[in-house]
This record gives sequence, C-alpha cells and structure tokens, in this order.
Amino acid sequence: MKPIRLGLLGLFILIVTSAGMAQSVRFDPARKLWFLSTRSTSYVLGINEENGVQHVYWGKRVAADGDFAPAHLASAYGFETREGLTAEEYPAWGGMRYAEPCLKVTFPEGNRDLVLNYDSQKISADTLEITLKDIRYGVFVTLSYRVFPRFDVIEKTVGIENRTKQPLLLESAQSGVWHLPQGQRYRLSYLHGFWAGETRLAQEPIDPGKKILESRRGNTSGQASPWFAIDALGAADEEHGNVWFGALGWSGNWKLVIEDTPYDQVRVVGGFNDFDFSYPLKPGERLTTPAFYGGYTDLGFGEASRLMHRFEREAILPARSADHLRPILYNSWEATYFNVNEPAQKALADKAAGIGVELFVMDDGWFGQRNDDRAGLGDWYVNPQKFPNGLTPLIHYIKSKGMKFGLWVEPEMVNPKSDLYRKHPDWVINFPGRPRTEGRNQLVLNLAREDVKAYVFASLVKLLSENNIDFLKWDMNRHFSEPGWPEVAPADQRKLWVNYVLNLYDILDRLRARYPNLEIESCSGGGGRVDLGILKRVEQAWTSDNTEAFDRLTIQDGFTHAYAPKVMMDWVTDVPNLNGRSTPLKYRFLIAMMGSVGIGANLNRWSEQDFALASKMVAYYKAIRATVQEGDLYRLASPREGELTASQYVSRDGQQSVLLAFLRSQQFLRPAPTIYLRGLDENSNYRLISIDDKLMEKGDVLSGAYLMNHGLNFNLTGDFDSTSVTLERVK
Ligand code: DGJ
Repeated sequence: MKPIRLGLLGLFILIVTSAGMAQSVRFDPARKLWFLSTRSTSYVLGINEENGVQHVYWGKRVAADGDFAPAHLASAYGFETREGLTAEEYPAWGGMRYAEPCLKVTFPEGNRDLVLNYDSQKISADTLEITLKDIRYGVFVTLSYRVFPRFDVIEKTVGIENRTKQPLLLESAQSGVWHLPQGQRYRLSYLHGFWAGETRLAQEPIDPGKKILESRRGNTSGQASPWFAIDALGAADEEHGNVWFGALGWSGNWKLVIEDTPYDQVRVVGGFNDFDFSYPLKPGERLTTPAFYGGYTDLGFGEASRLMHRFEREAILPARSADHLRPILYNSWEATYFNVNEPAQKALADKAAGIGVELFVMDDGWFGQRNDDRAGLGDWYVNPQKFPNGLTPLIHYIKSKGMKFGLWVEPEMVNPKSDLYRKHPDWVINFPGRPRTEGRNQLVLNLAREDVKAYVFASLVKLLSENNIDFLKWDMNRHFSEPGWPEVAPADQRKLWVNYVLNLYDILDRLRARYPNLEIESCSGGGGRVDLGILKRVEQAWTSDNTEAFDRLTIQDGFTHAYAPKVMMDWVTDVPNLNGRSTPLKYRFLIAMMGSVGIGANLNRWSEQDFALASKMVAYYKAIRATVQEGDLYRLASPREGELTASQYVSRDGQQSVLLAFLRSQQFLRPAPTIYLRGLDENSNYRLISIDDKLMEKGDVLSGAYLMNHGLNFNLTGDFDSTSVTLERVK
C-alpha cells in the first residue's frame, strides 16, 4: 500500500490496513489519535491542543478505540508548566521541562532551546512515522514506530535531521521514552554483572528520582544489559501480573533512565549514552538513533520473556537463523589455550566427532605471533610454525569427520607487539601525548576510521576466501579508554562512540552478504556484547567466561529474562572449575542444555565413562533441542529463590515438552519440592520419558491437568543432583 502523507490541515479519514492482517496502525483525525495495536496490547498517542505529540496509553488491548478522549495537556501546578507535566512522546530540552529529555541541541549562536511540535505523518502497513519540528528552526525529528502484532512488541527509532543552514550539535539523542500508567507504584527488574558474573537479575522498587543503567565502555558490556522490565506494585510473578518490558538494540555506549517524576509518572528514556556524547550535524545531515523495543503483558515475567524470545527468533536474528537449529559445538579454548597446532586440534576433533559434535571451533592462538595474549592481534595470517601447511589440512580433516569448522577472531583489536601496530600506531583510539592504557595487553583499533574499517574488512575477506570457514567466534576483549580520534576536527572526535559501532555493524552486514552461509557468535570477554543490535547480525552469543555449572544457573536465569535460549551458548567444561567447585558431568550437561550446547572441556583428559555419558547426553540434546531452542520457556523454579531450579520448554506445536531440574543441596533428608509443569494442554495426555530413575510418579502417561496441578516429584538428593524428563503428547 502506498504511504499516505498528511499535513495537519489536511487530515482525512484514514484507516490503513496491511493486506490480510488486522489493522495495527490507525489514525483518527477527528480526535487526532493514533492507535498502534498488537495482538494483546494497545499503544495510543495523540496531538494535543498546543500541537504537541503526547502519550495517551500503553497496556492491555483496548479494542474500543472510541473510548479514548483526545490528548490533552496536563494542568499547570506550582512551579511546573502544562507541557512540563504532560507525558510528551519525544520531549526535547526547551521551555520549562525538567524530566529527562529525549533530545538536547546546541546551535552555533549559542541557543540551546528546542521545542518540538507535530509537523506531518506517514502510515504504511505496520509502521507509523510522525515528524516533529522545532517551533523556529529547521530541526526535523521523525519518530518511527514499527508494530510487531504477534509479539506484542513495538519498535521506536528516531531520525534527527538538520534542515537549517548551519551546523548544530546534538548533546543527547535518545530513541524515545516509554510511559507507564501514572500514579502507581512499580518495581524495576534489570540485569547487572561483571566479567564471569554477567546478566544477574536484580529487582527493586522504583522510588522518586532516577535510576540509570548504562554502558560507558564502548561496547554493550557485561556490567549491565540494555533491558528492563517493570511490574505494577511489584506484584507480578512468572505467571501473573502486568509487566512492561523493553530493550535497546545498540552495541556501544547506551543508557536507560528509569525515572519516577515528582508527579508519579514512571518513564523510561533510552538511547545513545549522553555521557561524553557530542554529535555535530551539518546542514542536511541526519542521525538515526538505536532501536528501542517495548512490550507489555498481563501474564507475568514468564510471558514477557517468551514474547521477547519469539520476537528475537523471528524478527531480530538473521533470517537464516529461523530454520536452523544451533549445532552442538566443541571449542578448544579450555583444552589448549594458545597452544594450538594441527595434530593437537585433530586429536580433539576425533574425540569431539565421536560424541556427536557438529561444529568444531578452534579458538585463540592460530594467527600472527600469538603464543600468549601479549602479541599477534591485528595480524590475521596463519601462524606458519603452528600450521606449516595453513589451515586447509585441519579444515579438511574436520569436515571429513562430518563437522563444520569455526575459527576465533578478534578483529577490532591490536597488540602493540604486532606487525599491524608497528606499521600503523595511529590506528588505535588515543589522545596524542596521553598514555595508551592497555587492557589484556591490547589496544582498540579505531573502527570509526574508514581506513581501519577497510583493513578489518579486507583481512576477514582474505581469511574467509582462503579457508573454508563456516563460523566465526567474534571476540572483543577490552573496553575503551582514552577515546580520542586525533585525525578529525576536535568537534567531530566524539562521533567515535557512535561511528565505531555503525562501522562494526557495516562490516558484519557486508561479510554476511558476501558469505551468506557464514554464522557468527558474538563474544566480548564473556557476555559483554549481547543486545538486540548485535543479535541482528549473529546467530548466537557467548554468555560468560564463567562456565562453572552452578554459577551458570544464575547467569542463565537472568539471561533468559531478556534473551532467547537459542542464542545462549552454554559449554560443558572440566572440574574443578576456576572457582574450585566440582559438579557431576551429567549436571553440567543438563545445565548446558538450558540453551545451545557447547563442549569446552579438555577431551584429552576424559575417561571412557565420561565419553559414554557425553555421547548419551549429546544424543538426548539432539532429541530435545528443537523444543529448547525454538519452544516456549517456563522458568518453574529460580536459582534466586531456593535449592531447586527447574526450567520447562514446550515445543511450538505443543507435541513435546522438556523438563530440566537441578537440586543445589539437600538437607535433613527433605524431599525436593514438587514441580508443577506449565504450558500443557489440560485435556491431553503426555508420555513421560525420563533420562534416569529419579521420577517418583509411576504412570507412564499422565494428563496435562495432572502434570500442571498435581505436579511431579523427583528423588533428587545430595549436592548438585539433576534430572530431565521429556513429555510427548499422546495422539
Ligand atoms: C575471551 C573469550 O570469552 C574466551 O572464550 C576465549 O575465546 C578467549 N577470549 C580467547 O582469548
């Protein structure tokens, strides 16, 4: 359908329907209201009496559009103006406005006041574009909405365009603000962490003032994740309650401001981090903000996650990922570290193939003078001492074993001890005359520079065209420091934060276009780069360098609040792990099965029994992985709450369900708590297939009603016990 343009004076009756779909974007000119509708939610905004665009409603679907009154400015109160108290859809900093703004601008003559009003709109299928304009200057801001009806998710992006005759400076450019119903008490859920302890869920009441979640580190970071969930009255649980949730698609400096204004308006502003941000726009230039996704459900945190998971799988991940299950991966890192060579990798490949591995990944150490982490980054040629005949013989060998071949790279970095740095010391981000602080003995290449971007792209193209590589593990092992870009004018230097990420995305997009079968894992010293921006360009993400199974339960629990199990890479590694803890191999395998399974153990140290159990576990995972990776996740018992952790997955067609259960420690011979299953059909029967003898229920076939209401009991005892049951729906 052709897009329709409407000026304010020329508003006609407008009902736009995408072919065959329920109407998801509608404008009512009489009331000047837009209705964005998903399967179960409504998002309403309108033009008020001062020609401002304001938020009206976001929550459970209200099919009776006619019930909504036109947008109306709030009443002035005390020291506040009407617009300052109104839930404006995209407030710039100007006039008497004191809440967190979405846009802050400085003009060359010193003016810093910007007031945005409605200018025009465009509706097309599931998208709406509302253009705002400053009351005086030619600053045009286009708010783009894309509605994803099936996932109850709406995407917001914003294009800021300088149509004046002079340059202007953006000091804050946000992707938008999500408003919650005013006057209620709320609780915030968010993900925080650090290296080896990423994506841990925290919850706290939202009190007056601001809470800031952010990254200033150049990448998404493992310290915080650009995701939030907010539930009314802190009353939601996994199954019930109103939950509003959102996530940013940006892999650089980001910021979420969760604000409770003095007038009980909870709002979440998100976009580029405005710390050290300064983005000049010349006349005619435009900056587009990251995508900011938001959704709502009245079915608790469990449904909020399931909506995100489906949305990521079907609308975010690269298209080819949709029908491809993640292969079982072996990674050599914890077995050989930097000591890689052809015979050692072949020996590991033999063993990996023997237990059913499908993708063999050689990690760090294969290139340049890379014998430890002090040298080699930047020199992407095969190390001739370690691989005198190149990688081809190893790749052939791996493929002859029926596996795909993957390779580790860290293209954004350089060690000072490298040919690249000796040749181009100016290619790293730096402030002249200041220290170049090294992290893991490396410096960050300035990807914002076109020559650096070209070098990185060309190195990868050479590598991929000379070698038959199916998969890249794309690592990034330090955060930014001294973020200077001396080659450009001082006023442009801070564009580095944004342009670096845009160029990274561009490299990934062009590589994917050139090698359509290439798959990529995003890794950043563990789970430091997981967000909806990078997930558009990679098939999977490394969750954490902490592969210790019990710690992983908490990391994975938090991860699944925001991100799909399919992208969550979980390795089985050796014990005792770094923290000294030892858990049984079966427990480690079943915990890895909560997402996409990898094996990172030193197979040279495994016993015959270990191989036998591993083969059984890999075969079991292959039988359930479509359900785990593509199905719906129900977190039945959380590691945050007790000794028992249980997760259940239900396949898309409802024919298979999988339960994974773990006991931390039994005390006083107390039986493990009953596990109540979810997401089944009460009236169907299910055949239970247990991987061991821990299930106490005797019937082989039980009804959905029994499984969900009576529940299942397991004889889980001692420390780090585990089990799994598959349920097959009986015809
Ligand atoms: C950090 C990653 O998280 C590890 O898995 C491994 O690839 C190392 N880098 C290699 O240097």
